Amino acid sequence: TVGKSTNIKWQDCSVGKIDRQRLLKQKGCVIWITGLSGSGKSTVACALSQFLHQRGKMCYILDGDNVRHGLNRDLGFKAEDRAENIRRIGEVAKLFADAGVICIASLISPYRRDRDACRALLPEGDFIEVFMDVPLQVCEARDSKGLYKLARAGKIKGFTGIDDPYEQPLNCEIVLEHKGGDGASPCVMAEKVVSYLEEKGYLE
Ligand code: PPS
Repeated sequence: TVGKSTNIKWQDCSVGKIDRQRLLKQKGCVIWITGLSGSGKSTVACALSQFLHQRGKMCYILDGDNVRHGLNRDLGFKAEDRAENIRRIGEVAKLFADAGVICIASLISPYRRDRDACRALLPEGDFIEVFMDVPLQVCEARDSKGLYKLARAGKIKGFTGIDDPYEQPLNCEIVLEHKGGDGASPCVMAEKVVSYLEEKGYLE
């Protein structure tokens, strides 16, 4: 649907996604990292970005926290605001993928239907959902931003995992498990994503 925009027509250009991908020697896609606050989404996104950059691959991180400083500064954390946050980031990620870039979206995105709506924006295979499978107790014990403490004290209402839902993916492409010890370092997790991209031909 085009919502409130009427009398508009799609404009095509002779330089397309395939041309841009050839130039960049990679395939555009969206790596969608979902998980609780403190589960390590941003750390893994950053490690992944470093690995890809070192290999000469063009990537860009859309981090929920960061995008909320600008494009999504008008949105809060009610279910409909989160849905709009995710919808906009999904649309921006789609543009990056169309530009041939490997777009890493890192946001809680707690509702399955919102994530699935973003998946539906992209060609089959180009939406790679990555679940940070880290138990709430671990995220809460880390409490790197002190937000769980505030949520437990009732000073933040509707905090994901405390008094707001998080729906785990049912069929995502990659699960990054918290195991404790070295096996679960952000670098090891990011390498797992790189291997997936290699295997699927996104890095050429
Ligand atoms: S969402 O659900 O996808 O729209 O959230 P996202 O854009 O990723 O923003 C999550 C960050 O906002 C901070 N924060 C909260 N998180 C969850 N619930 C509530 N109520 C909330 N209020 C503020 C928090 O720092 C999240 O950052 P991360 O990086 O996930 O810890």
